[in-house]
Amino acid sequence: MQVFHHIASLREALAEARAAGRSVGFVPTMGNLHDAHIELVKTARQHCDLVVVSIFVNRLQFGLNEDWDKYPRTMERDMARLREVDCDFLFHPDESEIYPNGMDQQTRVVCPAMTDVLCGASRPGHFEGVTTVVTKLFNIVQPDKAVFGIKDFQQLAVVRRMVEDLCIPVEIVGAPVHREPDGLAMSSRNSYISARERPRVAVLNQCLNWARDEIAGGRRDFPALEDEARQRIEQSGFRVDYFSICNSRDLQPAADDDHQITILGAMYTSAARLIDNVSLEL
Ligand code: PAF
Repeated sequence: MQVFHHIASLREALAEARAAGRSVGFVPTMGNLHDAHIELVKTARQHCDLVVVSIFVNRLQFGLNEDWDKYPRTMERDMARLREVDCDFLFHPDESEIYPNGMDQQTRVVCPAMTDVLCGASRPGHFEGVTTVVTKLFNIVQPDKAVFGIKDFQQLAVVRRMVEDLCIPVEIVGAPVHREPDGLAMSSRNSYISARERPRVAVLNQCLNWARDEIAGGRRDFPALEDEARQRIEQSGFRVDYFSICNSRDLQPAADDDHQITILGAMYTSAARLIDNVSLEL
């Protein structure tokens, strides 16, 4: 695996690979890699000849009171994991490489659709930080395909919309949610979950599955379903951020006659904010 810290040298190596006819798959990450990231890398490998992974903890997408400074940086372990799955190129830039003019005056990419609801409602500015850095990374790597986890369903939907709106020539591939045996969706932030809370956090996934089964069984009283799920999560000792039954395409509240539904949930443990989702077709 070749490691690049600078845009120029990465571009040079990518130009050589492209000249040799190799297609480029890209997996953007913030590091602290776990099995779900490794699955994204494997998916990129299935689709493309050469795989680029980026590790960059993007301060622009963190709120002032969020965990940018304590976000786990585990470079040595991450590099070992990437070598095991034959990642070709790792791009690990410094903040000054990505934001050479600082962040205050950085040109931003704003996607107005779907970014002020769900996670966007409780994390103002988050998606603007994501769409800005993802656009920059796409411009740097110019991948044929880029792989994102379906676990961050809203992020995936926003990135797809941005790529469509801005005519960015990349195919976005969504990779399935990877779960622990009890159903907890794998996430870098799971390391914040306390041992005391860990046996109970699967309640989020259990409630999503329960709501999915109720809808598949014919229920359409979505607000009541959402309330029941919220109560169950709260009874397990967690504060609910949202539990919402949405139209999968635009993330608006689902209508009775919608055929593609995604149920999204977010809850707070004492030190982590966990998100998850399930989708169903009717
Ligand atoms: O999903 C993530 O890890 C980040 O939001 C991403 C896409 C790498 C952008 O910083």
